[in-house]
Amino acid sequence: DMGGHDTYMHKEIAEQAEAVDRVLRGRIDDKFATVHLGGLNLDPREARSVRRIKILGCGTSYHAGQIGAQLIEELARIPADAEPASEFRYRNPVVDPDTLYVAVSQSGETYDVLAAVQELKRKGARVLGVVNVVGSAIAREADGGTYVHAGPEVCVVSTKCFTNTVVAFALLALHLGRIRDLSVADGRRIIEGLRRLPGQIDEILKAEPEIKRLALHFADAKSMLFIGRVRGYPVAREASLKLKEVSYIHAEAYPASELKHGPLALVEPAMPTVAIVPDDELLEKNRAALEEIKARSGRILAVAHQEQEKADHTIIVPKNEDELDPILMGIPLQLFAYHTALALGRDIDKPRNLAKSVTVE
Ligand code: BG6
Repeated sequence: DMGGHDTYMHKEIAEQAEAVDRVLRGRIDDKFATVHLGGLNLDPREARSVRRIKILGCGTSYHAGQIGAQLIEELARIPADAEPASEFRYRNPVVDPDTLYVAVSQSGETYDVLAAVQELKRKGARVLGVVNVVGSAIAREADGGTYVHAGPEVCVVSTKCFTNTVVAFALLALHLGRIRDLSVADGRRIIEGLRRLPGQIDEILKAEPEIKRLALHFADAKSMLFIGRVRGYPVAREASLKLKEVSYIHAEAYPASELKHGPLALVEPAMPTVAIVPDDELLEKNRAALEEIKARSGRILAVAHQEQEKADHTIIVPKNEDELDPILMGIPLQLFAYHTALALGRDIDKPRNLAKSVTVE
């Protein structure tokens, strides 16, 4: 049942405020400025002894894990990184006893992720799952973890589950941070930020007519560049993946800082750039990148917290805490991908050559 929407993708984008509400519900502890994640199966002493966190997933779940790794480093100061599970399992990885492994999957059935988890467990590693489907293979195989509570996701390309997975990582990061050295004041700041998310998501979704207009404007592009820096980079990667999957327009994501080391050579009017420009400590750096693109007559669509003078168009999103901004900044670009695909007559819920979950080798 699409509840009045023309596609599941549109329905699932529209459901994100309530989905985020669900992942937060019952978990916030205001007294200690932390969160409780019932199924983690990691006591405080164990949580303190974690030296490193390695996050594994595929596709959109991998991108959610990249933002998750940044949240864990920022809030819990534990070195963390994400890697495609499909790569990890083929490279005889060093499995370190002080590393906590986190497997991310919407379906909980993706074979590359499951195989990585099984190999890790065989070698004695501790593996948590950040999974949407309750009771799925990865959820069962993991030592513990947390459910993402996005609800059923039908469209092959993931939208609401991506957002909820990142929020689940914010909860995990806050939990680990408050066991280690995140202050009560910072814990409160993050909790207040999390509580603002659902209202801000609905605010972003109200801009759909404007985003649709922009999508029609850029739908003739053969290729698009997506750029962002640090917190904005995984947002750019996920937005680029979304556009590719659903519209079949070639898109490439690059760190804005690397533009001058190569991709600037591609910039011309026929290749538009989508830039993620949060109001954080890198704002001036990001503005300089926009200037570089403008000087080469590149068309720019910015997603930002304030109007960007160098951009041809700016989609303004509400500001949250710096650490949580990546959760919001990709949402308008889900609608951008959707409306581009709609304009091009694509099979939105079932893009060619793709499956919702790849349960084979
Ligand atoms: C892909 C899907 O094959 O699997 C992607 O087409 C998805 O949309 C990826 O992100 C990973 O799936 P899951 O269920 O493990 O998150």
